[in-house]
Formats: sequence, structure tokens, C-alpha cells
Amino acid sequence: MRLPADPRLEAVSERLREVGEVIVFASSKGGVGKTLLSVTASLLLSRRGVGVGLLDLDITNPTAHLVLGVDPARVGPVEERGLVPPEVSGVRFMSPTFFTQGRAAPLRGEYVSSAIREVLSITRWVGVDALVVDTPPGMSDELLELLTYAGRFRAMVVSTPSVLALESAARLSEVLGSRVEALVLNMCSEGEPSSRRPEGLGERVPVYALPYDGEVEEAVGDPRRLLSTRFSREVDRQVVGHIAGLLGSRRPRPTATSTMSPP
Ligand SMILES: Nc1ncnc2c1ncn2[C@@H]1O[C@H](COP(=O)(O)OP(=O)(O)OP(=O)(O)O)[C@@H](O)[C@H]1O
Ligand SMILES: [Mg+2]
Repeated sequence: MRLPADPRLEAVSERLREVGEVIVFASSKGGVGKTLLSVTASLLLSRRGVGVGLLDLDITNPTAHLVLGVDPARVGPVEERGLVPPEVSGVRFMSPTFFTQGRAAPLRGEYVSSAIREVLSITRWVGVDALVVDTPPGMSDELLELLTYAGRFRAMVVSTPSVLALESAARLSEVLGSRVEALVLNMCSEGEPSSRRPEGLGERVPVYALPYDGEVEEAVGDPRRLLSTRFSREVDRQVVGHIAGLLGSRRPRPTATSTMSPP
């Protein structure tokens, strides 16, 4: 029996067509800094005058609002032919926390997929040139959903410089294929070789290295303070510089498809 196609997928393509570039921060391992990087990169892009959207796609464990200092009881999307995300520190921000109000959301498989389709199909990214997406670690339902119908998004693969993390980053990069824009090594210590390149990562993919910065934890919830850290300066110089380059030389993204396209 063939199941009818989910009509929300058409709406998702339409919504994402409103956006210039979709930049997804992904990693194999947890706790490597995806959320911190997604938020910092969004704030920095906005400071450069780019229209930025930030989507926290960690459906069961969203945390981007904590880094941004957003209280979901006070701030939220408004309904206007869909949902328009609130603007926070110059960034259009959408998060599952607006719907759960900080409560746990112990969802599995198909329920996660459905929640993602719902959020992607109702959110209107008006005036957004770059949509930054924070994802949970590993080959999550969230990432697989994006691979299935979000067209040719661009991926920033995040890892720590540890040999084990790099090995898993290489495997994730294999799955993401030509979508991989860069490998970002986060929490590098002083003197760490910044050119560590896992085997299997294409030569065209640049490797960026960000420092471990003890001030970052203190700046969680305070975007201005976050932007004044050394970590943020390096994110701006390397990662955001790369993204700005993409926006400057936009090649048209193929429209979303309803089947998983080969990497
Ligand atoms: N460069 C850094 N220097 C110091 N601390 C950092 C750095 N990058 C991230 N951290 C800290 O590491 C912790 C994990 O970061 P974060 O939550 O962004 O990781 P994540 O990859 O999103 O985790 P998860 O996989 O659970 O979603 C946070 O406490 C964050 O403040
Ligand atoms: Mg995270």
C-alpha cells in the first residue's frame, strides 16, 4: 500500500524557498559546541547586516534560547499567515521551547519527524538571507529529515580535535557529502595543530580551529558579552567569514525534493 505524500512537505519547500541559504551545524558527538556556534554565528551575521534566521531543530532538547537569553514565557512567535519568529538581538529565532515552554518532550521517531515538519511548514522566514539551523548530535531524526526534503543545505560539521571525535566527524561528512562546507574544530587548546584533517574529508573542505575560551560559559544568556569573547572573534574571522563568502557568491540552490538525494 502506498501512503499518500505528506502535504506539509510542499509547504516546507515553499517556506525554505523564502530563505537564501540554509546553514546547518551538525556533529557526530554531543557537547562539541554546535549550539554555541549556531547562536554566535547568527549574531555575528546579523551584525554584518545579513538578514538571519536561527532555527533550533533539537526537538527534544532545545538549548539555543538559553545562549540567546530568551525566556519562552515572555517571548514567542506571532501568528500571521503562519508563524513569524520573534526577533532577538537582530536574529529571527524559532525554537521548540516556544511550544513546550521548557517542559520535557520525550518524543521518538515519527513524532519527532512530525514536529519538525510542522515547525518547518508553519514558520515564515520573512527577510531572511541566511537560515542557521542547530541540530542534535549524531544521525538524528532531525538531520535525516533535513536530508530528505530540505534541498541542498550547507553543513558545518563541528568536532573537537580529539582523534575519536574526528573519526566520527569523517563518517558524518561522508553521509553529508558535497553539502559539507567546512569542518570546525572547537575547543582547541593553545598549540593544538589546527590542520588536523580526518581521512576521507575531501581536500576542498577547509578546516577551521576555534579556541577553548573559559569566558564563553559566563557569557551564556548574554549575547553582547558573548560577542566580546575571543571565541566569538575567531568564529567571525573563520566560520562567519566563510558563510559571508557563500552569501556573496550565491549559486542557486536546487529546490527541495521529496526523496533523499545522494550526497
Ligand atoms: N570554544 C569553547 N570554549 C569553552 N567552552 C565551550 C566552547 N564551545 C562550547 N563550549 C561549552 O561546551 C558546552 C557544550 O556546548 P554546546 O551545548 O554548544 O554543544 P552542543 O554540540 O550543542 O551539545 P549537544 O550535542 O548536546 O547539543 C557548553 O557548556 C558550552 O558553553
Ligand atoms: Mg546543542
